Amino acid sequence: MTNPTKKYYFRSIEHFVLTGVLILSGCSLPQRTHTIKIGLALYDAHDTFISEFSTHFNDNIKESSEDVQLESYDASGSQYTQNTQVAQLIDNGCDVLCINPVDRTAPGKMIELARENNIPIIFFNREPVEEDLKQWNRIYYIGSSAKGSGTLQGEAAADYLKTHPDADRNRDGVIQYILLEGEPGHQDSIMRSEESVETLEEKGYVLEKTDYAIANWSRQQAQTKITQMLDKHIELILSNNDDMAAGAVSAYEQAGIPRTERPVIIGFDGTSVGLELMKNEQMAGTVYNNSNIQADMMFQLASTLARNEPLTDFHLEKDRRIYIPYRKITPDVLDDFLQEHDHPAEDPSSFNSYIHPTRQ
Ligand code: BGC
Repeated sequence: MTNPTKKYYFRSIEHFVLTGVLILSGCSLPQRTHTIKIGLALYDAHDTFISEFSTHFNDNIKESSEDVQLESYDASGSQYTQNTQVAQLIDNGCDVLCINPVDRTAPGKMIELARENNIPIIFFNREPVEEDLKQWNRIYYIGSSAKGSGTLQGEAAADYLKTHPDADRNRDGVIQYILLEGEPGHQDSIMRSEESVETLEEKGYVLEKTDYAIANWSRQQAQTKITQMLDKHIELILSNNDDMAAGAVSAYEQAGIPRTERPVIIGFDGTSVGLELMKNEQMAGTVYNNSNIQADMMFQLASTLARNEPLTDFHLEKDRRIYIPYRKITPDVLDDFLQEHDHPAEDPSSFNSYIHPTRQ
């Protein structure tokens, strides 16, 4: 069965070939007959982004014409649990492991087990450090590049501030802001926090950091932290993800603070939660972290590895990494973005306009 969505993505990917972003040749895959078994290990299935990623991955398997079995586990935030689950996946005969590590700095045990049994690993979303990726030549990584992500978020904030001078509510020429940070040590929280602020400053905005809050990617934690800051003068919230941005919105809603007295809120991910906030004008910008293409690519790579086929169709960056580009989503491009997102076009030529600027 042909999946039109998949056709669109693969055409998009072919388009990236021309821009030097991502190379996946249009070669058709060989006829695949025997059953393969994929093991999936999630750091926390309740994370909105991960749950959307996992849904896309499952859809790929369901729509595939190949005979694929999937066994998946949720580590609920415990690396110890995940080590046991990975051992179980290996014992149960998985041909390839797709791992979203709980602690990206401590995948050693899982690598050791996989290596002993010669089962390739694709890490995704939580990027192991270089030393770990170098440990074995059957370790891969799929995600979006942390570097550059905050630049796009800073640009989304700058685009909004430029067209909405009233966002500087006390008119002091300074933007009082707070950072809502994801998990400490996660490559994405580090880069998004640093680069978003730097980008705004480079664009000439004078910023004053009123406070910051670590909310571990969690909507609930963000809501609690922002509720504790409601007496502070905040004009901008830069949130490392959409879920925490949603928590901030809920804090203002619950306190009954009118929209004109709330800060501008910028998120990250373009999840269904984030897109809803954009539609309702409760969030002024976000950056699309394309879980759909990431999951699609992971499925293609996993089945190729499981069948021991050559990887000539994949363009791997340093240490066997594949990075999927982001897209900046601002209110002026929201309708076009939603149109493409909900009804993928046959001709994705407009897609290029959203590609990460530093990677074009
Ligand atoms: C996403 C977050 C998610 C985290 C989980 C990040 O790339 O932006 O929403 O919670 O990954 O590792």
